[in-house]
Amino acid sequence: MNNMIEVEKVTFEYPLSEDHTIKALENISLEINEGEYIALIGPNGSGKSTLARHLNAILLPTSGEVRVYGFPTNAEEYRWEIRRRVGMVFQNPDNQIVATTVEEDVAFGLENLGIETSVILERVNEALELVGLFQLRNHAPHLLSGGQKQRLAIAGVVAMRPRCLVLDEPTAMLDPRGRREVLETVKKMNRQEGITVVHITHFMEETLEAGRVVVMNRGNIIQNGSPEEIFNGKIDLHALGLEMPTVPKLVRMLRAGGLNIPENVVHVHELVSFLC
Ligand SMILES: Nc1ncnc2c1ncn2[C@@H]1O[C@H](COP(=O)(O)OP(=O)(O)OP(=O)(O)O)[C@@H](O)[C@H]1O
Ligand SMILES: [Mg+2]
Repeated sequence: MNNMIEVEKVTFEYPLSEDHTIKALENISLEINEGEYIALIGPNGSGKSTLARHLNAILLPTSGEVRVYGFPTNAEEYRWEIRRRVGMVFQNPDNQIVATTVEEDVAFGLENLGIETSVILERVNEALELVGLFQLRNHAPHLLSGGQKQRLAIAGVVAMRPRCLVLDEPTAMLDPRGRREVLETVKKMNRQEGITVVHITHFMEETLEAGRVVVMNRGNIIQNGSPEEIFNGKIDLHALGLEMPTVPKLVRMLRAGGLNIPENVVHVHELVSFLC
């Protein structure tokens, strides 16, 4: 199926008190295709996390519908089917650790499913290899670096063999090295394993890995396009409190200086090979 996740006219209100609610999503529609890498950006409070939590039925729409492989999230009987296919990774790596060794941590979700021990072992090893933590399988998770902890969280989800990975600011609490490690891992899951990725980030450079950038503001999707379209300078990101990623900013400056740089340059290596 092409559209793996369909968000149709979704409005969501958080209850504040008995007679007060706050509207976090307003009539949002979005289709996510199998194998896509989507970067979700927007200012604080724009609704990114709320939308992400709708993609695997952690939150259910106040009105409208979310379907994952055709399964509506608000039908309780499909909840497990949905959670198995769409895994979430959150911002704080420490909150996601559940066991005392790396290996056990990855096994945790599978054990809860009652899967056979030999299969668990195979899946755990495979997931740890994929995120580059196999050598550390007997280590204590709390002694890992931030980047390693987030890769461990990704392994825990990947071991469940999801079709989609939703990451809510997975690099926000990491140093630049940790950020690079996690980004490389996420990229690998998408490019090599074919896992669909929805990646929420405040780091604009990270969005350049995506095939599509979705921009939210005040509970609405206000832009939806390729990184080239979103960062071509025509959209006033500054007004939203968002930065331009360095490469497109550089391209714009070079163009202003008279250089005729092609439209599709979004990566450092593309820019360097064009300039050289
Ligand atoms: N648990 C909650 N209860 C009440 N209101 C909430 C809750 N979580 C979020 N909100 C409100 O919903 C709106 C959207 O919040 P959300 O966390 O989805 O935004 P966000 O884009 O993820 O922001 P950030 O970039 O800060 O993570 C905001 O107005 C926020 O204050
Ligand atoms: Mg958020």
